[in-house]
Amino acid sequence: MTHQIQSQFKQAMRRLAANVSLISCKVNGEWAGIAATAVCSLSMDPPSLVACVNRQASIHPGLSIGDRYCINLLKEGHEDVSNAFGKVIKCDDKFAIGSWGQDKDGTPCLSDAHANIFCVVQKIIEYGSHSIVVGNVIRIQMNEIGAPLVYFDGRYL
Ligand SMILES: Cc1cc2nc3c(=O)[nH]c(=O)nc-3n(C[C@H](O)[C@H](O)[C@H](O)COP(=O)(O)O)c2cc1C
Repeated sequence: MTHQIQSQFKQAMRRLAANVSLISCKVNGEWAGIAATAVCSLSMDPPSLVACVNRQASIHPGLSIGDRYCINLLKEGHEDVSNAFGKVIKCDDKFAIGSWGQDKDGTPCLSDAHANIFCVVQKIIEYGSHSIVVGNVIRIQMNEIGAPLVYFDGRYL
């Protein structure tokens, strides 16, 4: 039964269309990042959002209370960078794709993302395989607008 529900759940979640973001941060001084669709606005006061991050993900050790990270909202044309950050490959190989810079704190950010939302980890809730990471927004950089990069049924729309 559990296996059946898991399989059905996976199939159903494929039908939940979602904008792709990259979550980028530093882990032991090195840039790290993953592709993520489980990113959502949480509260306006204080401005905050949640991201659900697999506890096995390379960025997870860089997301303790007080750590800084960036949510980079992707747009059409970012398929290659999304594919790279969605794979288990070395972080050096991920950051070789796309146009990357860093803010004054050294947090990596994708220069042509729709927006770079810089956050500081405020709270972490562990649940199942993932951590729900609550981040307070400390700075936002808006860039040129385009169509969002939307993931649906295992492909980009
Ligand atoms: C479209 C897409 C959405 C993803 N969304 C999430 C997510 O919300 N949370 C998460 O932990 N992993 C998510 N992943 C998986 C991670 O991106 C992937 O496991 C990670 O990049 C592996 O890299 P790592 O070995 O550096 O941890 C997603 C992957 C793709 C392709």
